[in-house]
Amino acid sequence: MFENVTVAPPDPIFNIFSSYLKDESATKVNVGIGAYRTDEGKPWVLPVVRKVENMIVNSPDLDHEYLPLDGLKSFTDASAKLILGTNSPVILEKRYCAVQSISGTGAVRLGADFLKRFHDKTVYLPNPTWANHQSIFEDAGFTEILEYPYYNPKTKGLDINNLCDNLKAMKENSIVLFHACAHNPTGVDPKEEEWTQIAKIMKEKKLFPFFDCAYQGFASGSLDKDAWSVRHFVEQGFELLVAQSYSKNFGLYSERCGCLTVACQTPAKAEAVRTQLCKINRTVISTPPAFGARIVSKVLNDPELYKEWVSSLKEMAGRIKLMRRMLFDELINLGTPGNWNHIIDQIGMFTYTGLTKEQCLLIRDKFHVYMTESGRVSMAGLNTKNVKYFANSIDQVVRMTLQ
Ligand SMILES: Cc1ncc(COP(=O)(O)O)c(C=O)c1O
Repeated sequence: MFENVTVAPPDPIFNIFSSYLKDESATKVNVGIGAYRTDEGKPWVLPVVRKVENMIVNSPDLDHEYLPLDGLKSFTDASAKLILGTNSPVILEKRYCAVQSISGTGAVRLGADFLKRFHDKTVYLPNPTWANHQSIFEDAGFTEILEYPYYNPKTKGLDINNLCDNLKAMKENSIVLFHACAHNPTGVDPKEEEWTQIAKIMKEKKLFPFFDCAYQGFASGSLDKDAWSVRHFVEQGFELLVAQSYSKNFGLYSERCGCLTVACQTPAKAEAVRTQLCKINRTVISTPPAFGARIVSKVLNDPELYKEWVSSLKEMAGRIKLMRRMLFDELINLGTPGNWNHIIDQIGMFTYTGLTKEQCLLIRDKFHVYMTESGRVSMAGLNTKNVKYFANSIDQVVRMTLQ
């Protein structure tokens, strides 16, 4: 029966995490996995989340009935408003649908499954991108998955000219995936004027935008600023898909809480799309999990709780910015060869350091520092106690490998 089953290759990110756990060094540093840590290096349950959890479990009305196929309505409505903006024409004209998913990954997959059925075209992913994107679209059955240039290793910034030239050369109606903010792994986002330029070409070429938004509010500390790209495309009249995750901005990683919001031309089309998404959910997950959605719904729909959440978001974004600054200052003090400005110029959870695969393996081997082989560093893994050690490790590895 299982004669032909071979061992699947390990997931690069989860594999680094398990090597880190096995490492017995007292100075080991985990900057591999993208999960927030406090300055003590501990996971953080946001105070507002803890409060609402208690409210939910102590409520005499709590039951464990199935949610509808499209999830908790107070959660999905609030999610659509959060990403599109309360005054978005799409919201006011009720021409959207929002369907609950198994976190951000599930939202991307739900969107991919839907597009495979109703818009089976070429998919373009940024190069580089979150490692899971390629596999999700492959598993959804897309056969033509191509890349578009995004990052320029020389400037360690956006390759805007190349990106635009590539958009112009794409086949009409192709699907183009964007990270709404805090691009993973590079931490490089288009500026507002660059998004405007991108949207203009997308419109001319009739390209279809699919936004993956895993870091709203977490990138800049402002929920509106981090949603600018999506809202700009909506203002320009695009129909679009946006996958939302509450893993990072609510710290609800294991609750698998997410939403797929679709902006359509008419309320009737939105309803048709909603029913098709329900149909997909039915065979894959039947109905989504309730706990995370109940937490998020309570917070998004209560002005006082919302304020508390925003203040925690600012705290997380602020701590990460501080780590960028401290790492940069340490490297400058050490006189580490190379230019390190990108550490403070990039945004969100990750810094794309520019370290080579050889350097990443060496830093793991010699200094017990765990990062992906692409040189991506999760800034949340740094804190005031380990940043000096981390900077020193980079400094030494860079010097060891100088040609
Ligand atoms: C770009 C991007 N999309 C989606 C996700 C999905 O995360 P989750 O499924 O945990 O919500 C992540 C998480 O790292 C991500 O970086």
